[in-house]
Amino acid sequence: MQFTIAIDGPAAAGKGTISRAIAQHLGAAHLDTGLLYRAVGMKTGDPVEIARTLSAQDLAREGLRTVAAGEAASRVAVNPQVRAALVAFQRDFARREGGAVLDGRDIGTVICPQAEVKLFVTASPETRAMRRWQETGEGSYDEVLEQVRIRDARDMERADAPLRPAEDAVVLDTTDLSIEQAIAQAQAVIAERL
Ligand code: C5P
Repeated sequence: MQFTIAIDGPAAAGKGTISRAIAQHLGAAHLDTGLLYRAVGMKTGDPVEIARTLSAQDLAREGLRTVAAGEAASRVAVNPQVRAALVAFQRDFARREGGAVLDGRDIGTVICPQAEVKLFVTASPETRAMRRWQETGEGSYDEVLEQVRIRDARDMERADAPLRPAEDAVVLDTTDLSIEQAIAQAQAVIAERL
């Protein structure tokens, strides 16, 4: 069986945790596409060339989950040539036998517009900053909130593949949900559509 589940949303809304849980539940493959941009952002050299030659090993490097890597990712992610160079990798992954769950910013809108299920996972900036701060233990809450706001603005205002829900996406706001509740709601949406 082949199917694609696209899960988009801003940083720290819960999409990574939800995506992993769903992939595990369905026995499908999971790709955190943010890792592609993080890996490109953290390497030195021409980002377009790095994106063209990116390998699966690059995605397993240490340090890709740091705040600095997220910042570096969002800076290279505004480059249309970088984005174009990463399309084939993501589309190949999406066609895997056994199903695929991809999470990112533009999966439902650009990478996999034909996905069987599209979810847009979001939460208030304050809630996302608190989660990110508790998870990374880096800096102060106020600094993390500021970084979340800057990253949201950069992701939503870029000309190429801006962050926004696809027209046919189901929006899941996790602000007042526990992670278990968020996963249960996502699973209910998927069960209705697959
Ligand atoms: O999801 P994550 O925080 O790892 O993403 C880091 C950055 O990579 C995002 O802020 C965004 O700028 C970029 N990104 C993107 N498109 C994706 C995934 C991530 O532009 N599909």
